[in-house]
Amino acid sequence: MGSSRLLIFFILPILLVLDPLAPAIVGDHISDGVCTRIADYCWSCSNTNNTFNNGSIYKQNLNTLLSSLPSKAQINPRFYNSSLGQAPDKVNAIAVCRGDVALKDCLTCFSNSVSILLQNCTNKKEAIIWAERCTVRYSNISIFGVLKYEPVKFVPSPNKISNAEQFKQVRDPLFGNLSEKAAAGDSVLKFAAGNALVPVTNQIIYATVQCSPDLDKQNCSDCLKESILDIPQCCGGVGGGRVLRPSCYLRFESNPFYESGADTLTGGGVCTMRADYCWSCFNTKNTNNGNIYNQNLNTLLSSFPSNPKINPRFYSSSLGRAPNKVNAIAVCRGDVALKDCRTCFKDSVSILLQNCTNQKEAIIWAERCTVRYSNISIFGVLEYEPVKFVPSPNKISNAEQYKQVRDPLFGNLSEKAAAGNSVLKFAAGNALVPLTNQTIYATVQCSPDLNEQNCSDCLKESIPNITECCGGVGGGRVLRPSCYLRFESNPF
Ligand SMILES: *[C@@H]1O[C@H](CO)[C@@H](O)[C@H](O)[C@H]1NC(C)=O
Ligand SMILES: *[C@@H]1O[C@H](CO)[C@@H](O)[C@H](O)[C@H]1NC(C)=O
Ligand SMILES: *[C@@H]1O[C@H](CO)[C@@H](O)[C@H](O)[C@H]1NC(C)=O
Ligand SMILES: *[C@@H]1O[C@H](CO)[C@@H](O)[C@H](O)[C@H]1NC(C)=O
Ligand SMILES: *[C@@H]1O[C@H](CO)[C@@H](O)[C@H](O)[C@H]1NC(C)=O
Ligand SMILES: *[C@@H]1O[C@H](CO)[C@@H](O)[C@H](O)[C@H]1NC(C)=O
Ligand SMILES: *[C@@H]1O[C@H](CO)[C@@H](O)[C@H](O)[C@H]1NC(C)=O
Ligand SMILES: *[C@@H]1O[C@H](CO)[C@@H](O)[C@H](O)[C@H]1NC(C)=O
Ligand SMILES: *[C@@H]1O[C@H](CO)[C@@H](O)[C@H](O)[C@H]1NC(C)=O
Ligand SMILES: *[C@@H]1O[C@H](CO)[C@@H](O)[C@H](O)[C@H]1NC(C)=O
Ligand SMILES: *[C@@H]1O[C@H](CO)[C@@H](O)[C@H](O)[C@H]1NC(C)=O
Ligand SMILES: *[C@@H]1O[C@H](CO)[C@@H](O)[C@H](O)[C@H]1NC(C)=O
Repeated sequence: MGSSRLLIFFILPILLVLDPLAPAIVGDHISDGVCTRIADYCWSCSNTNNTFNNGSIYKQNLNTLLSSLPSKAQINPRFYNSSLGQAPDKVNAIAVCRGDVALKDCLTCFSNSVSILLQNCTNKKEAIIWAERCTVRYSNISIFGVLKYEPVKFVPSPNKISNAEQFKQVRDPLFGNLSEKAAAGDSVLKFAAGNALVPVTNQIIYATVQCSPDLDKQNCSDCLKESILDIPQCCGGVGGGRVLRPSCYLRFESNPFYESGADTLTGGGVCTMRADYCWSCFNTKNTNNGNIYNQNLNTLLSSFPSNPKINPRFYSSSLGRAPNKVNAIAVCRGDVALKDCRTCFKDSVSILLQNCTNQKEAIIWAERCTVRYSNISIFGVLEYEPVKFVPSPNKISNAEQYKQVRDPLFGNLSEKAAAGNSVLKFAAGNALVPLTNQTIYATVQCSPDLNEQNCSDCLKESIPNITECCGGVGGGRVLRPSCYLRFESNPF
């Protein structure tokens, strides 16, 4: 870009006269957007000298390419890279969604980001926007697979911490782990999310890292390593922040900000905080005889909601012959009215059929029921994986006292549920945290085809996971195929 420096002498006046919307130019600093503390949009138009003229072919190409992006992105919904035109008017663009973002939000983010770039980086040959849920960038220079550290932005969170050193001692290894995981990702997603507990203060650090997925493993890893080293400068004394680069970014907060479940599974549905639907398709592709399997699956699942049954709250049934045999289980939450139970089955089945296309196994943990299917026999079989953690948003100050009441409560409920019958293994109850006068409401449930021992084992395995899932918050769920537990500070 050195050769472009001379251009400033005639482009700058043109910019100032003809382009009232151009961001302020101070000296020859990079002009860029303001990173708010929320950093919904934190854009940056690169080199101020690197501009094009209105009516140029570059501008046409840029407009065409970026405008097509939100719609084209549907082919590969979360990562889009493309070029348009021929040098010197060739435009290259990359758009990547945060790994845990729902498709709808991803497309909205692309669309908003594109319009901000086109408006606010008028006549810039290069620009990038780091939005809350996606990153979009373009350049006249080839950017695919190229490691790019600059420009870099630091966005500290407002909340201070008193124990920066202890925080750091947990945060940096957490980022090390996540970086490795993200770098090992594939060519459409290099993302990792996770959390860790700062023991002394009982604070949880939530973190995400992401690379542009066109980078190779080494470059992704290098980019994140460099960014971890920047944290002290960016956000050393505060409880959260972001280091943003064209090729990668990292972020941490003391509250959960990514969709949970992102840290335990890749692929599959998004667990919202309400977890109305938290589905998960396993990665077993339906190859041979896909059509027969799919037919069986459709027939079997579609029969559940309509099938008038003696016990309408629990279905377990198979259809077809190996290798196209489908096994399915549907269970309602123990306390749900029959009408709501049926609706839940119906909605869940249609989400599975739509969103887990060609998957041989899938599960959905809905608010009021669980539905799963597999080509493998699942009846009476204890299955721990996959597991999803869904913390509630509300924080608590007294995690230790809370735990001392919560864990025995879950112990009691687990015993009660395990002792249930072959159509219902469910228990609900509550307990008071004496010091704070808070009530904990809790439920546990097993797939009723499990025997008492298996049900008990599944719940016992899940109770210790609460610390990791939802240790610092007043509620949450640990979801497994064979059982789940949930607690909240309000009756649900
Ligand atoms: C823009 O051009 C001027 C004049 O050549 C040069 O001094 C300056 O460093 C350039 N700015 C950038 C960001 O390259
Ligand atoms: C260049 O394009 C911008 C944005 O479309 C517009 O505001 C400006 O007036 C145009 N300048 C000229 C000379 O056409
Ligand atoms: C884009 O530019 C407009 C007009 O200058 C400004 O009001 C707006 O805040 C800018 N957008 C962002 C995200 O900075
Ligand atoms: C990109 O634009 C800059 C400034 O106009 C120019 O110096 C450079 O040669 C261009 N690079 C390519 C690959 O077109
Ligand atoms: C990494 O990035 C550099 C710089 O963009 C690039 O030259 C290289 O091909 C990339 N891959 C590897 C393996 O270094
Ligand atoms: C990082 O990973 C190692 C090995 O898997 C594990 O022992 C350690 O607890 C992890 N640290 C954090 C902070 O996640
Ligand atoms: C998009 O990125 C992939 C690598 O992730 C690469 O194979 C492909 O060629 C890129 N597309 C374009 C148009 O360069
Ligand atoms: C199922 O997929 C559709 C379309 O891809 C999407 O709009 C919807 O949000 C998904 N459902 C769930 C529960 O994630
Ligand atoms: C289930 O499907 C997987 C993936 O197609 C296959 O490897 C496995 O053998 C199947 N198992 C049975 C029991 O059909
Ligand atoms: C658990 O059960 C024991 C024995 O029934 C009872 O004493 C205790 O209060 C219960 N604890 C909670 C938190 O429910
Ligand atoms: C504890 O909460 C209950 C129910 O909200 C309330 O009736 C009671 O007065 C509270 N006790 C104390 C000591 O705050
Ligand atoms: C859940 O807790 C069990 C028992 O402590 C542990 O073995 C397991 O690794 C945990 N699972 C996850 C996903 O953290």
